[in-house]
Amino acid sequence: MKKITIIGAGRVGETTAQILAEEELCREIALFDVREDVPEGVALDILQTAPFFKFDCALEGSNDPRILRGSELVIVTAGFPRQPGMSRADVLESNVRIVDDVTDHIMAYAPDAMVLVVSNPVDTLTYRVAQRTGWGRGRVFGQAGVLDASRMASFIAQETGFSSRDITTIVMGGHGDTMVPVTRFCTINGIPIAHFLSEDRIEAIVERTRKGGAEILALRKNSSAYDAPGAAVAAMVDAIVNHRRRLLPCVALLEGEYGETDIAMGVPCILGEKGIESIVELDLNPRERADFLRSAASVRAEIERLGELDGARSAARKS
Ligand code: 2OP
Repeated sequence: MKKITIIGAGRVGETTAQILAEEELCREIALFDVREDVPEGVALDILQTAPFFKFDCALEGSNDPRILRGSELVIVTAGFPRQPGMSRADVLESNVRIVDDVTDHIMAYAPDAMVLVVSNPVDTLTYRVAQRTGWGRGRVFGQAGVLDASRMASFIAQETGFSSRDITTIVMGGHGDTMVPVTRFCTINGIPIAHFLSEDRIEAIVERTRKGGAEILALRKNSSAYDAPGAAVAAMVDAIVNHRRRLLPCVALLEGEYGETDIAMGVPCILGEKGIESIVELDLNPRERADFLRSAASVRAEIERLGELDGARSAARKS
C-alpha cells in the first residue's frame, strides 16, 4: 500500500503510526490533527526512529485536511478519550461531531479510501461513518474485537502460564461491558480452554476482558490504553495490505447476519485487501445468542442517541 493517513495524532494514532512504520506496512504515513504543530511533531519524532528500526516509510503531519489526498486507507482515532469513571458512551456527543468533520474531509480528499474507525464509542461511530459516506460495509469498518480478543488471550496466558502465541480467542458484540467473549471457540493450540481452566476461572477472565479498557484507564489515570489498541489496528492493517484474508473480529455493518440489520457491531469477518470480504456466521448456542442480542440492544440504544443528538443540534442552529 502506498499511503495511509491516520486522523488524530494522540496516543493511539501515534502508536499505530510507529508500528506501521516499523513494519513498513506502507510507503507513506500522513498524520492529520487539528492541534497546531502536533501532527508535524509526532511525524518527525517517529521519523527519527527510522535509523534504529531501519524503515524507509515517509512520515508527515499537518492540520490541513488536504494531507489526506492519495490515501488508500484512513484510520480514524480522533476524539476525546474517556476519563476514569466514564463509559465509552459518555464521549459520544463530543466525538460524533469530530468524526462527522473527519468524515467530510475523507469524502472530499480521499474518496476512494477504506476507512478504519477506532474512535469511541466505536460501534456507533463506525455506523455513523458508514451512514454519512454511504460507502459499502467492505470499505467502512471498525477495530474493537481484535483488541478485546488480545486482552482475553493475555489473561488466559497469565492464568495458565502458557505462551500467548498458542492462544486463540474470539470476542464479538459491542465494544463495551456487554461484549461477548465466545469461550466455546477459545483454544490453546486447538484444545478448548475448558480443558485447562475451571468454569469459575473462565468466567473471571470473561469479566476481566469485558472491563479490560476500564482496568487500564483506572491504572493509567490520565489515559486510556494505547499500546495494545495500536497493535490491534496494525494487525488489521497488516491483514489488508498483505491481503491475508484473516478471520478477525471487526466492527461491521450487519445486513441480516445474526438476525440484525441497521447496526454496526463486532462479528468475525474475513479481512483482506478490499477490506471486509465477508462476515462469518457462527452457530451460536442459546446463551451466546442471548448475550449477543443483549449487546446488540445496547449498541442500538446508542445509535438511537445519534438521532436525538442530531435533532438537538439542528434545533440549536435554528434558534
Ligand atoms: C480500550 O478498550 C480505549 O476502547 C479502548 O482500551
